[in-house]
Amino acid sequence: MMEGNMFATSQRTHLCGALRAADAGTTVRIGGWVHRSRNLGGLVFLDVRDREGLVQVSFNPDWSSAAVIADAAGVGVESVVIVEGVVTPRPAEMRNANLATGDIEVRASAIRVVGPAVTPAIPVARGKNDALPAEDLRLRHRYLDLRRPELQANLVLRHRLLQATRRFLSDRGFLELETPILTKPTPEGARDYLVPSRVHPGEFYALPQSPQIYKQLFMCCGFDRYFQIARCFRDEDLRQDRQPEFTQIDIEASFIGRDDIMALSEDMVAALWREAGHEVATPFERMSYADAMERYGCDRPDLRYGLEVHDFTGAFRALDFGVTKSAIEAGGRVRGIRVPGGAAWSRKQVDELEALAKSAGAGGLLRVKKADGKLDGPVAKFLTPEAESALALADGDLALLVAAADRISSPALDRVRQECARRLNLVDEQARRFLWVTDFPMFEQDPATGALSAVHHPFTAANPEDMAAYPDAPARWRALAYDCVLNGLELGGGSIRTSDPRVQSRMFTLLGIGDEADQERRFGFLLEGLRAGAPPHGGIAFGFDRISMLLSSGTSLRDVIAFPKTTAARALFENAPSTVPSDDLRELHLRSTVEGE
Ligand code: AMO
Repeated sequence: MMEGNMFATSQRTHLCGALRAADAGTTVRIGGWVHRSRNLGGLVFLDVRDREGLVQVSFNPDWSSAAVIADAAGVGVESVVIVEGVVTPRPAEMRNANLATGDIEVRASAIRVVGPAVTPAIPVARGKNDALPAEDLRLRHRYLDLRRPELQANLVLRHRLLQATRRFLSDRGFLELETPILTKPTPEGARDYLVPSRVHPGEFYALPQSPQIYKQLFMCCGFDRYFQIARCFRDEDLRQDRQPEFTQIDIEASFIGRDDIMALSEDMVAALWREAGHEVATPFERMSYADAMERYGCDRPDLRYGLEVHDFTGAFRALDFGVTKSAIEAGGRVRGIRVPGGAAWSRKQVDELEALAKSAGAGGLLRVKKADGKLDGPVAKFLTPEAESALALADGDLALLVAAADRISSPALDRVRQECARRLNLVDEQARRFLWVTDFPMFEQDPATGALSAVHHPFTAANPEDMAAYPDAPARWRALAYDCVLNGLELGGGSIRTSDPRVQSRMFTLLGIGDEADQERRFGFLLEGLRAGAPPHGGIAFGFDRISMLLSSGTSLRDVIAFPKTTAARALFENAPSTVPSDDLRELHLRSTVEGE
């Protein structure tokens, strides 16, 4: 990692973790944290750690004075020390092959405790088999948790990925341009975090959900290629792969089409994976949204396993079975997956799958299994030969079916499919199945009210062929939008934008913002920019935290964000959010409606 010894300063000569056998005989001065301390009656060993790793420092009457040994014996773990000594090869039997510095030790002649530590609230040093403290406790004491070598390595990798991103994009003519944090709302489908204005009573800034409108304005201004490592803020329900405050690699370019953005993105993803030591094959697979929903019930399918969804409607139409009959009559379909070996699952195990399907909105999960050549399950005796051959069950197979509208069966089958794959150990953890999902619908229609909302965001362009073919049926339009998916996780998403201000205005109208004054009030700054001469443009944004998580040892976004929020959107260490004195609120022209404030 080090080139020369650039870490040498007036206070130290080397990093602890960088010392090697080649340094034997050198007198060094190192600074670091006491990771472990052992006192073998007069002989003291301290493991001293810095960001590069740890080194054993030994104190012995042969090379340390009695006072130095006494100081070493008294120092508490996690205290910061500066030690002077000679790098010396360890006796053969004391070498540690698992440690980069394991061939040597530093024989100390002096020690100074420069940062004494109180007893740490959670341990930093851990034995191989020691469990981590509970996550809440670690987040509460993040200043200690971040000392853990695993988290240090994650953040170092994050840094390298940031630099690799900047290098990659800058080398291709992209300009790193910054956009405001105090801004106007940009709809990305979540709630805004609002910031009250003190000087303009009753008025608010919004924190950006993304720099979407600004990056489009950059295109109108002629910057041609923009990128930003952009902090985004979204007040939405949190999950393992979501944070209220997260980082995007945000990209926009002019005079560009969908394939250009996809090719650029593939090269960038490959460069980032290479930075972490992995080769990625390009181009990525592509699948239309319609295909993904049909075959996997999901717009970001995990392709590491099969268990594809099949349509059995045709073969089930003639069945005299209430559940399927009524669903088909209501315009729904009978869809399901075939699970090899699933016939061996107990009733309880299949009930659990049904509970999953129900939690995703389905009325139930029909089961048909084939064991010892016989079909079994509530629908079995109603099956026609045609339905039986469509199911095509081999001995030991289980079919799991949902009879409903696609809007209901797709999410249910998606959940069931994922759980079956997990149970059957079908997920190849080493595999990397990158995928572009394309041709998303432009709008989502509320089945009750018929109201349209944007599937991506309101600035995405609709497919011109669809607009021409179904001018009065916008619910049928596909969008020029694309998502980059890896193993079932959405890494990024983008689109070609509407660059014609009249079309953009029509899109707002379709989305229920028909009033011209309303459009101008909310999006005038974009419309004006487009009216002033806009090139064709498009872009994409990648979730940088998600990429860092996948490329590090992390299993949650919290493992790659230095000071993350919990799933309850709290910062446990800094203790935010928190109440503020009512005087402060008054100054902002606000009054809390929460009792006791
Ligand atoms: P989108 O909303 O799809 O697109 O976001 C792009 C990518 O950002 C990541 N992401 C998140 N990561 C962590 N926590 C979150 N809460 C979170 N939300 C999103 C995902 C996602 O794929 N302006 C458009 C991009 C464009 O059209 O160019 C946008 O923000 O990995």
